This record gives sequence, C-alpha cells and structure tokens, in this order.
Amino acid sequence: MNKYLTIALPKGRLGDQALEQFHHIGIANVIDSKSRKLIFLDDELMMRFMLVKPSDVITYVENGVADIGVIGKDSILEEDADVYELIDLGFGQCKFSIAGKSKKALHQMDSILKIATKYPKITKTYFSQRNQPIEIIRLNGSVELAPLVGLADVIVDIVETGSTLQAHGLEIIEDMMDISAKLIANRVSYRFKYDSIQDICEKLIGLKEENL
Ligand code: PRP
Repeated sequence: MNKYLTIALPKGRLGDQALEQFHHIGIANVIDSKSRKLIFLDDELMMRFMLVKPSDVITYVENGVADIGVIGKDSILEEDADVYELIDLGFGQCKFSIAGKSKKALHQMDSILKIATKYPKITKTYFSQRNQPIEIIRLNGSVELAPLVGLADVIVDIVETGSTLQAHGLEIIEDMMDISAKLIANRVSYRFKYDSIQDICEKLIGLKEENL
C-alpha cells in the first residue's frame, strides 16, 4: 500500500469548496488549480492529491487508488458504492426533486409516467415505493429539455437555486431528498491509514463547529 495518503478531489464547484476547507485545516496547499496537472504531491505531509471528474471520484476511492475523496451524496446513492461515508462536509447542499411543466404531470396514476433523468437508480428506488408505472429515460445532461419537447412527462434532477428549472418554465412537483458533500474512504485504507484519515476528519469537524 502506498505510503502517501491519496485524496481524490472533484474538479469544479464542489472541489473548490473542498479545497477552501482543506486550506483552513492546513492541507492541499500544494495544489495549483490554475495548472493542468492532475496529481500534486506533498512530501512533507505525505499526501497526494488527485483532481478528477466529479463522477469518477467514487471509482478511484472504491478501487483504492485514492484512500479518501470528496463527493456529492447523489453520486454515492446512484453508484451504490462500497465505501465508508465518513462525514458530511457542510457544503454542496441541494436536493433531488421531481419537476415538470405542471403538478398534474405526476398524478395520472393510470398511465405510464415517463421520467427523464441522469439518475436512473435513485429514480427507480424512489418510485418503487409507490404504485405508479414508470419508464425511465436516461440522459447525460440538460434533462430540463425533455418535458419541453415531449420526451418525458417529468424529470428527476438536482435542484440547488432553482434557476435552471425557472429558466425552462418547469416547477417542482415533489421534493425527494436533501443531499450534500461527503468525505468518503476506501474500506481497506480506512483500516490501514486510520490515524491520518481520522486526523483529517477531526479537523474538518472542528472547522464545521467553528463556523456554526
Ligand atoms: C445540476 C442539475 C441542474 C442544475 C440545478 O446540473 O442537473 O441542471 O445543476 O442547479 P440550479 O437549481 O442552481 O439551477 P450540473 O451543474 O451538475 O450540470 P449538468 O446538468 O451538465 O450535469
């Protein structure tokens, strides 16, 4: 096992917020976000940082290439990953919602409800608890388009500010669950690198409490 503690960070909004927290607890200062490098080594702290696509963080951690990582709860649920969820990081708060052109879209219980989403697993699990036949249409992005052009009756998507829905004349029909950013760990790494992982967790929890 690599001596360095390897941390996978998602590129983009979530990663920027994670970096801010990491800087507050005195780690990740070796990362130069402006460079195109994807790996940064801190020989002093024995840490290695990897910048990856948000949806790939879970793959790196699950495979043990990264020991810990920062990820949205949405990815954990959708990938059904075999990792430890260590702490809630207190940022990246948003929710999963069902949205459509009008609230009526959901209530036609007799016909098959067509749902466009990037999250088929979460959608399937949620709708399995109710007695409504559904057809899931998997898209890779811009799902807001689907109800507008008749591809789907409703969408299941992440809502943060609500401005994307608003811009497309869609409204929330039902909120499904709250989500936020989590720190996750590979199961083996958590055992073998327990002290250094726990140290980071405690510092991040301390930071969260300071900011309350
Ligand atoms: C998410 C989501 C919505 C948007 C919601 O997309 O799929 O499109 O954010 O945010 P809002 O409520 O603040 O408008 P993301 O930014 O992940 O991009 P993507 O659609 O390309 O995946």
